Amino acid sequence: MIDQATVDRIMETAQGQITDVISEFVHLKKRGINYIGNCPFHNEKTPSFIVSPHKGIYKCFGCGKGGNAVNFLMDHEQVSFVEAIRTLGRKFHIHIEEKERTPEELVQQNERESMLVVTDYASRFFAKTLFETDEGQSVGLGYFRQRGFRDDIIRKFQLGYSPDNRDAFTREAQINGYKIDFLEKTGLTVVRDDYKADRFRGRVIFPIHSLSGRIIAFGGRILKTDAKTAKYLNSPESEIYHKSKILYGIYQARQEMVRQDRTYLVEGYTDVLSFHQAGISNVVASSGTALTVDQIRLMARFSPNITIIYDGDQAGIKASLRGIDLVLEEGMNVKVLLLPDGEDPDSFAKKLGGDKLLEYIAANETDFIKFKTSLLLEESKNDPIKRAQLIQDIVRTISVIPDGIVRSVYVRECSSLMKVEEPALYLEMGKFIKKKQERDAGRTFLQNRETPALVQTPEMPLPILTQPANPLDREEREVLRFLLKYGDYPLGEVEVGVDKVLMSAGEYIVHEMRQDELESQNPLYNRMLSLYEEQMKTPAFKAQRFFVSHPDPEISQLASNLIAREYILSKIHNRYGGVRKDEEMLETLVPRVVTELKWKLVKLRMEQIRVQLKEAEEQKDNDKVISLIREMTALQNVFRIISQKQGERTII
Ligand code: CTP
Ligand code: MN
Repeated sequence: MIDQATVDRIMETAQGQITDVISEFVHLKKRGINYIGNCPFHNEKTPSFIVSPHKGIYKCFGCGKGGNAVNFLMDHEQVSFVEAIRTLGRKFHIHIEEKERTPEELVQQNERESMLVVTDYASRFFAKTLFETDEGQSVGLGYFRQRGFRDDIIRKFQLGYSPDNRDAFTREAQINGYKIDFLEKTGLTVVRDDYKADRFRGRVIFPIHSLSGRIIAFGGRILKTDAKTAKYLNSPESEIYHKSKILYGIYQARQEMVRQDRTYLVEGYTDVLSFHQAGISNVVASSGTALTVDQIRLMARFSPNITIIYDGDQAGIKASLRGIDLVLEEGMNVKVLLLPDGEDPDSFAKKLGGDKLLEYIAANETDFIKFKTSLLLEESKNDPIKRAQLIQDIVRTISVIPDGIVRSVYVRECSSLMKVEEPALYLEMGKFIKKKQERDAGRTFLQNRETPALVQTPEMPLPILTQPANPLDREEREVLRFLLKYGDYPLGEVEVGVDKVLMSAGEYIVHEMRQDELESQNPLYNRMLSLYEEQMKTPAFKAQRFFVSHPDPEISQLASNLIAREYILSKIHNRYGGVRKDEEMLETLVPRVVTELKWKLVKLRMEQIRVQLKEAEEQKDNDKVISLIREMTALQNVFRIISQKQGERTII
């Protein structure tokens, strides 16, 4: 753990020297007070990636990525916040003080570290055995080469061989000082009383890397074909290896996953290898087990687009079907490709080579609806009950997609494929969504603001589709933007009760939000407002600097993005010519963005009440009707006042 003061120092230094940090990865050219270059996060020919040394932030106007120096490293190198801080510490020669750890933390840390040291040694031992011993060359290397794997690929994945001898590896490790305790804990040695044996003896070895490239486990493949033992043997679960949280190949794939903005998901070790050999490196494997949510989120960090490529046999089909709903539920776009019967990604990649393979994938991958329907339609052709089940099945799958617009696209497709009217599908989907909402009810952050009714009524079949996650997001972000960017500016005298008080823009915003007890549905926004409120009492507080270099990457990234938005705005200003700058009209703008938020909030609440009122009337719940009408009347008053204010403010 790094102590906070050091984190702050590193963040501050990096902020001041952001061009220095980024120009290690991007060729930057000076343009005015900023620097500009080709965005490293997406492919482009004309540069739209801007670095502002003055503000310590970067922003790409092509793909929208932006942040501070730490965010850049995290995003570009795909490392954690702590790793990024360490890298920057090294770069700027800032010594990192490690925070004192509790004895338990120390033990745990030492234990993990010791295990990683052992696995690292083991992988070097196995690789050395493969390339430098007679047995390794003739048996192990011979096997890989006979399967057509090139040496560069074998080395890239640090493949190895474990001698076919009861404990050759364990003995060698112990001679070199590695403790039996950690050899056992990593699963490399199987210990029973005083009997010790190498788990992977006589197998070729596939090391499994963590996201940051450390070796956390191994897979070992048997070479004899007639053996009764399992074809693959894997390291057991341990302190450093949680099978359900990692994907084989992720370390070697992560940068290309970002660059290509797509991940190919295959089943096994050799599939990954063959794709790399064919020049396709945005590929990971689930290693023969059912895909887990953790694995999907791991992929989602790099790209939302995924193509599942599984064998065309029954097991492969089942596995892809299971994966689809999970992937969709995480909001990812999923395509499926079933290979011709008898092929697996490994054999197919070898057969076609990279270019043809990519062409084949592009031509044959289908979205999940086509995939599911074509699979199941055949067998349910003349059976209306089966057909109804199939429709249910597909609609349920669509209902897990978080984005309403995406859902509507699939409903349309399902409607035309299955020859069912769209409203019927929406009706069906509404049931699934309602069930899910009931399950999730406990998780909402909203206080007085319920999500507008999603329940389907026959007269209004569509609202279900257009439910954004946070209906006030735009307004809330705008308030935050002014808070961060202009919070320190004096705003003028503001009426507080009977008094007139001289306030800064930030004080005004905080005052207005607190007075009406406004909370966002987004906990991050609330945290930023609270932080601002805390900090604004400090005399030297500079909002922009404070938030942009905040150690919580969620905060610093959002802050940078909000502040960078001015570039877009000024572009628009320029296009229409001669509009005054934000800071010249804060007295108008700041109250306006706050009012707009309130206005929208009241409007939303009124819409909700209308729906609830109707329900209450139908249920003849008179008490409820009365209280709702009361609330409505009060809101209508507020609404009128706000609308008036808004009218006054809307001068431009
Ligand atoms: N697997 C495993 N244990 C087994 C069988 C399979 O862990 N007993 C995992 C491995 O990660 C394997 C993947 O499931 O790579 C896919 O299995 P399979 O298709 O049988 O193996 P292939 O990858 O095709 O391996 P090979 O081509 O070497 O037969
Ligand atoms: Mn295979």
